[in-house]
Amino acid sequence: MNILVIGGAGYIGSVFVEELLKNKKKYNVVILDDLSTGFKENIHPKAKFYEGSQLDYDLLSSILKKEKIEFIFHFAAKLVVGESVFQPIEYYENNVGGMLNIVKCMRDCNVKNIVFSSTAAVYGNPLEKDIPIKENSYKDPINPYGSSKLADEYILKGAYEAYGINYGILRYFNVAGASKNYGSRIINPTLLIPVINKSLLLGGEMKVFGDNYKTRDGSCIRDYIHVIDLVKAHILMMNYMIKHNKPNIVNLGTSKGFTVLEVINQVEKTLNKKVNYKITGRRQGDPAILITKNSKAKKDLGWVPKYKISDMIKSDFEFRKKFVDKK
Ligand code: UFG
Repeated sequence: MNILVIGGAGYIGSVFVEELLKNKKKYNVVILDDLSTGFKENIHPKAKFYEGSQLDYDLLSSILKKEKIEFIFHFAAKLVVGESVFQPIEYYENNVGGMLNIVKCMRDCNVKNIVFSSTAAVYGNPLEKDIPIKENSYKDPINPYGSSKLADEYILKGAYEAYGINYGILRYFNVAGASKNYGSRIINPTLLIPVINKSLLLGGEMKVFGDNYKTRDGSCIRDYIHVIDLVKAHILMMNYMIKHNKPNIVNLGTSKGFTVLEVINQVEKTLNKKVNYKITGRRQGDPAILITKNSKAKKDLGWVPKYKISDMIKSDFEFRKKFVDKK
């Protein structure tokens, strides 16, 4: 099967390509990435690489035709929650404009299958009664990042109804960790576990954004999921779509919540190091609690997460150690 991975040089995209190419006989992998937040070092040597934007109609449609693409995995997005609050136009332009262009190219080139990386941010700030979050829980995003992803979901729904484009939507909770060779190479990370590990590797103090939320210790609760568990769910979703020939939407998380302070504690225990942190004000756009109910992923896809938070912490630390500038 000929597969296009848009955003295959990024964090999750690169781990996914590695997973696919463990089965080189079955999958022929093409990557499209504009390298805006992706890295050349993350491009798998056995994948064919095109440098360019998801917004480029001519480039994308020529790849779909030339490479005879049958299935698209779309990972390319601007994804920093806090930044999106201050750059709504850039977020909508890239995330929604990108999806519109992809769907247009799929329609014009007769490509019928796409798996899309969506997010827990589509749920906004769920009410206590809605935790753990189910796929049909109320959706009311509280930042442009989440709204742009929800808009993308509606675009896919329309494309299915109008053009028969089949889709799988995976709503990620908080992805963390790395494989041995692929992971997040961002030097100035914004995600919690990379931020903590960076502070351990380079020194300096990390900030805890808020301790006055309505949670057990006042800091925000998130559901952390290992990137390797996450990418495996993409292959299961592809198999589901092929078997059932219909769209599906599932949440991906472990169904366990950790506060920010508990994550810091887990890092200290796992790596046997002291984290230097200080509590500051809230970050704009942060919901208090995001935990999923992952029973639909289990039931529909047969997906069961294997890794624990300590595995995420350790693998991110090991991966980060290899490229962080120690000067
Ligand atoms: N946090 C800190 N200090 C930091 C970084 C983060 O206290 O330096 C806190 C945040 O305020 C939040 C928690 O750690 O409470 C997790 O924050 P992240 O930035 O790691 O992740 P987010 O929850 O903001 O967002 C991530 C993804 C989104 C996804 C969301 C789903 O970036 O794509 O998880 O839960 F939608």
